[in-house]
Amino acid sequence: MSVYEHKPAVAVFHEAHEAGIAAAKLIAELLRAKPNAVLGLATGSTPIGLYAELVRMHREDGLDFSRATFFNLDEYVGLPREHVASFHRFMREHLFDHINAMPDRTFIPNGMAADLQAECRRYEALLREYGPVDLQILGIGVNGHIGFNEPGADLNGDTNIVTLADKTRKDNARFFDNLDAVPTSALTMGIASILRARRILLLAFGEAKREAICKLMSASVSPACPATALRGHDNVALLLDAQAASALDAPACP
Ligand code: PGA
Repeated sequence: MSVYEHKPAVAVFHEAHEAGIAAAKLIAELLRAKPNAVLGLATGSTPIGLYAELVRMHREDGLDFSRATFFNLDEYVGLPREHVASFHRFMREHLFDHINAMPDRTFIPNGMAADLQAECRRYEALLREYGPVDLQILGIGVNGHIGFNEPGADLNGDTNIVTLADKTRKDNARFFDNLDAVPTSALTMGIASILRARRILLLAFGEAKREAICKLMSASVSPACPATALRGHDNVALLLDAQAASALDAPACP
């Protein structure tokens, strides 16, 4: 981590869907200027509106994804691609099945690989071959995770295997039959892999994210809140709704 810290730009929107549309516009601008751009994508409820807008832009405005390359941040270990909660399935349902992305240019870590360490090395090598990512979309966990880099993560780490925090498993249990069905580990791009992107857009919505957003902006850069590592990058913008931004002017984080 550089000793120099940067202040992420912050844009606050009345409604979450406006932030999703703003992020989609930035992606569309990038693709029009650079059709073979490399996009870094995230899963979770946060980017769903952004993906819906990209699908609309493809259908109605002819936005072309055919020369783009896509890298997803992470995937659970041990979930088949068809599983309703797998990130492979999420990406197909919310984006890839509805745009003209080339299937051989949509990369997601393979959490079913027999040798997970080798899969992490393969993924990192792909990022280096096709990268750097031009524009990385991020969400943020209530506990300050980015990708699946949980509190305690190595801030200099590449793609790796991680144990999911109990908080994350509980937060994501809504996508599974019950808490026991939520995998205990995942593959994720590391913080260093994420910071190699040229530009990063982090979206966060709702009251539950306000503490994590406040810490991202003002807590010491530390593995205790992995998102603080974003202050080591000079081109990060936060697209927030009013609730997620509500602690930014507070004298101390909640
Ligand atoms: P969410 O998850 O978009 O479902 O809130 C974000 C994250 O955990 O990174």
